[in-house]
Amino acid sequence: MKTGKEGFQERVGWLLGAGRKSGGDGVTAAVQCDRDRMAIPGRCLPCCAALLAFIALFGAVLPAHVKKAMEESPETYSHYYDHKELSERLHSLAQAYPELCRLSSLGMSVEGRELWVMRVTADPDAVPPERPQFKYVGNMHGDETVSRQVLVYLLRYLLENYGREPRVTALLNATDIYIVPSLNPDGFQRAQEGDCQGEKGGRENARQLDLNRNFPDQFTNQQPPDPQQVPEVVAMMRWIQENRFVLSGNLHGGSVVASYPYDDSSSHMETGFYSKSSDDKVFQYLAKAYASNHPIMKTGHPRCKGEEEEFFPDGITNGAHWYDVQGGMQDWNYLNTNCFEVTIELGCVKYPVASELPTYWESNHRSLLEFIQQVHKGIKGFVLDATDRRGIFNATVSVADINHPVTSDKAGDYWRLLVPGTYKVTASARGYLSLHLPVLLSLTSWSSNL
Ligand SMILES: *[C@@H]1O[C@H](CO)[C@@H](O)[C@H](O)[C@H]1NC(C)=O
Ligand SMILES: *[C@@H]1O[C@H](CO)[C@@H](O)[C@H](O)[C@H]1NC(C)=O
Repeated sequence: MKTGKEGFQERVGWLLGAGRKSGGDGVTAAVQCDRDRMAIPGRCLPCCAALLAFIALFGAVLPAHVKKAMEESPETYSHYYDHKELSERLHSLAQAYPELCRLSSLGMSVEGRELWVMRVTADPDAVPPERPQFKYVGNMHGDETVSRQVLVYLLRYLLENYGREPRVTALLNATDIYIVPSLNPDGFQRAQEGDCQGEKGGRENARQLDLNRNFPDQFTNQQPPDPQQVPEVVAMMRWIQENRFVLSGNLHGGSVVASYPYDDSSSHMETGFYSKSSDDKVFQYLAKAYASNHPIMKTGHPRCKGEEEEFFPDGITNGAHWYDVQGGMQDWNYLNTNCFEVTIELGCVKYPVASELPTYWESNHRSLLEFIQQVHKGIKGFVLDATDRRGIFNATVSVADINHPVTSDKAGDYWRLLVPGTYKVTASARGYLSLHLPVLLSLTSWSSNL
């Protein structure tokens, strides 16, 4: 597209008209918008009449909230929280900031520990449909413990800085954030502080199963996981399916790199095979958003013990190219839901001594924030019925040449993460005419997108 032009369509709405079925197969007729006029949505509109796109205007106004006095102990960054302390901390944060967060549980671990999730967003009882859902999941390997702590620090940082730091305020106004500090509290309970490479146990759940190897896999096992064996995986899958996550970070330890789908290939070559997803460009971009803000990750040289020569250009890697992982959570998210997940290794040492926690928080906190903001990069809007303007649930929004459609939620809202470029986008739903629209996502508008 012509550069320097102020046309962009980061917000693309759709009005779908009732479809005339051609034959018995439900194929709907399509209306093509004039490509030459794509740059400015306002011009595109008349050419396709009421049938076509409108620009959804976001900007919900929320009532101002009043910060209540809090009564909870300050963060000292000095020790790891066991399950009891983690639970207490989360409860006290939830009590101190009722206008910003809600604590709930995904379910229970094998040994009956709650799998906590804290939802953080402005005015959490009235979340409007134009707020995308983001999640971080930590400590699914029980002995990879940095994430468990830094996610609590992040929570506190977000809560304490709403209304103080404009960036945090804007982020919580516009984003529905979910934080799961530990998906494997049983493993954590057995892990040992100071364990560098995971020799001392605690990686698996209480049934000795690796949670990041027990999701259904596209190349091997499609079976749903057994709730007796891996209730943590079952709870996570159910929760993901009940929600409409757009972006996710799966936090690990043992190296310093951001790794993206796919994690395995049909040949299951142990290493060196680049297993590309349809959204390879988007995933590389997302992984870099984390890596480029991390002082070590961005160099590409983790220099972990025993792997001193390892090099990851830009601090990122395709998962399978690094090593083949079957049954990982990341690929399952991408292949079964709208959610794009990146797996992030926060440090060489899996369970560093507690005195190093402030350093880990220091090196990761910018990246953690930056990565959340990526949930806003791409196109978004509503797919609506042209006659009554009601949202169409489960409509499909697909991008030509990218074999990964996303679906709309109940209000017709959808998000499609994309890097800058020009795209042919189609919205379709059963019983409606499909609509095609050329979309220009310019670098300028995309960069300023929150
Ligand atoms: C966040 O929302 C509050 C409440 O609607 C509003 O007063 C404030 O201006 C918003 N701030 C930002 C940075 O979006
Ligand atoms: C969404 O639509 C697809 C077909 O496009 C269908 O297979 C699926 O069951 C629908 N999902 C829901 C929740 O209605």
